[in-house]
Amino acid sequence: VCMRCSAWGEHGMCWGGPFVLGVQGVVLWLALHTRALSASHRVTESYIQGTLDIPLINKTVGQCLDETAERFPHRDAFVFHRDGVRKTFAQFKEEVSVNPAYQAHELEFVIRKVGCKALVFPAHFKSQKYYDILKQSCPEVENSSPGGIKSKRLPDLSTVIMLDSKLPGTFHMDEVLQAGDSSHMKQLRALQQTLSCNEPINIQFTSGTTGSPKGATLSHRNIVNNANLIGMRLGITEQVGPADYRVCIPAPLYHCLGSVGGCMVTALHGSSCIFSAPSFEGKATLEAVSQEKCSFLHGTPTMFIDMLSQPDFDSYNLSTLRGGVIAGSPVPPEIMKMIAYGTTENSPVTFMGFPTDSISRRTETVGSILPHTEAKIEDPETGKPVPLNTPGELQVRGYCVMLGYWNDSARTREVISDDNWYKTGDIATLDEHGYCRIIGRCKDMIIRGGENIYPAEIEQFLHTHPKIEEVQVVGVKDSLMGEEVCACIRLRAGQSCAADDIKAFCKGQISHFKIPRYIVFVNQYPLTVSGKVQKYKLREQMEKHLQL
Ligand SMILES: *[C@@H]1O[C@H](CO)[C@@H](O)[C@H](O)[C@H]1NC(C)=O
Ligand SMILES: *[C@@H]1O[C@H](CO)[C@@H](O)[C@H](O)[C@H]1NC(C)=O
Ligand SMILES: *[C@@H]1O[C@H](CO)[C@@H](O)[C@H](O)[C@H]1NC(C)=O
Repeated sequence: VCMRCSAWGEHGMCWGGPFVLGVQGVVLWLALHTRALSASHRVTESYIQGTLDIPLINKTVGQCLDETAERFPHRDAFVFHRDGVRKTFAQFKEEVSVNPAYQAHELEFVIRKVGCKALVFPAHFKSQKYYDILKQSCPEVENSSPGGIKSKRLPDLSTVIMLDSKLPGTFHMDEVLQAGDSSHMKQLRALQQTLSCNEPINIQFTSGTTGSPKGATLSHRNIVNNANLIGMRLGITEQVGPADYRVCIPAPLYHCLGSVGGCMVTALHGSSCIFSAPSFEGKATLEAVSQEKCSFLHGTPTMFIDMLSQPDFDSYNLSTLRGGVIAGSPVPPEIMKMIAYGTTENSPVTFMGFPTDSISRRTETVGSILPHTEAKIEDPETGKPVPLNTPGELQVRGYCVMLGYWNDSARTREVISDDNWYKTGDIATLDEHGYCRIIGRCKDMIIRGGENIYPAEIEQFLHTHPKIEEVQVVGVKDSLMGEEVCACIRLRAGQSCAADDIKAFCKGQISHFKIPRYIVFVNQYPLTVSGKVQKYKLREQMEKHLQL
């Protein structure tokens, strides 16, 4: 497998594009073939602005959908492969979602935070029994009339709609659909006329590796334009037939990759979304791609690795695939090569490669800036701009910056400056052609005896060791140096290795102060529900383990 991703942590949601994979002798090359949109000019400082030639769209999500439905009424908008359900654009309906892995405490938090009035869910999904989870925060539901819930802990919640059954205090989805008549439709249409593209449409909770989740509030304008620009850079144009843009999405819809990268691109460009199964299954995804003749496939690295390791991989006809986006969890650089970068707070994509970029650009950078977007890099300590090719904190400005965190002006002010720069918290460099390289997270930076050390750099190096499967580097406290470097290593199956061998491997290859003082062999790392490594927890575990 040779791919790479270099974005980490809370905001480090990463997006990849064309990629090269090789497993068990199978080499799968998915390259995008499209018109070149050469944009980059020479850059002389760590600041860049995207082109302005593609006009920004001042429309709501609803208006874009209506127009796309008018252009392609009979094209598939959504295909649910497992259930055999197809919806054309003319039949399209909107949906809202929260992370289906949420437990009672998290659900209560997000419902309270946004003052949510109605919840829609199935009775259960995988091991999750939603009605029971809701009852933990809202025991009143069982004795309420549908639509009349009055809850002490969830004061705003009045209505629960179940998709597949009817339990006490809830409506069944069918009842709700049947209750709607033409007057409601008129009301809805009238309401749509009053909406502005600058109003919020999506409160996207960032899963966060520390603290409570933050509700990044995105406007119609944010996501409409991001989806438009992503689609254009992918090369989706109107000239081609519907068969050319069938996008398979095994990624969850509560994630920006599914919602903006999948559904919104569909709403803007008339592509078709193919869902392989209710939750990810490698085999089902391969089946959907081959039977539905998908041209693009968006997923997380784990999903791609799972698909490639299916024993009957060779029996699927994947000849229609031309490209895809890899996004999500932190991936060791030797495992995935990525060509796009974004954060939920930026709607989400800000840097993206061109399909025509050279392999080295695709593998070493996250591409160049999208139109109507500015980026600059500053020293996180001094706030001063840094020279080209020098690490600093990446900041972004433009139409894509979120409105703010929902009802949290303090945390919004921490990340958005008075002149509207969004501080990504990611350490990056910019080169003279405007290509950006992501190095790590600001808060993961280790300061050892006054020397700034980026864990990702050491992780990248250690990944070249043949016995190492996965490695996470954290700073642990040290009375003399302030912090010391600790590498937590997961070895490949059946391998053994001594700490001294690892240190010897580093010697002469990386600066002496970056050579980990502590090497700890582990079997697993603490993860968030969405599978991100929780570095602060790992640091705590290591400090305890090392008795510091
Ligand atoms: C969208 O609105 C902005 C200002 O609000 C304007 O400059 C721009 O020309 C508008 N774009 C289109 C396509 O109408
Ligand atoms: C694979 O699918 C493509 C596109 O549908 C088709 O043209 C081709 O004949 C198929 N190949 C095989 C071996 O079935
Ligand atoms: C915002 O949060 C505060 C507490 O932090 C709460 O009192 C207030 O009701 C919230 N406002 C809205 C509109 O949710």
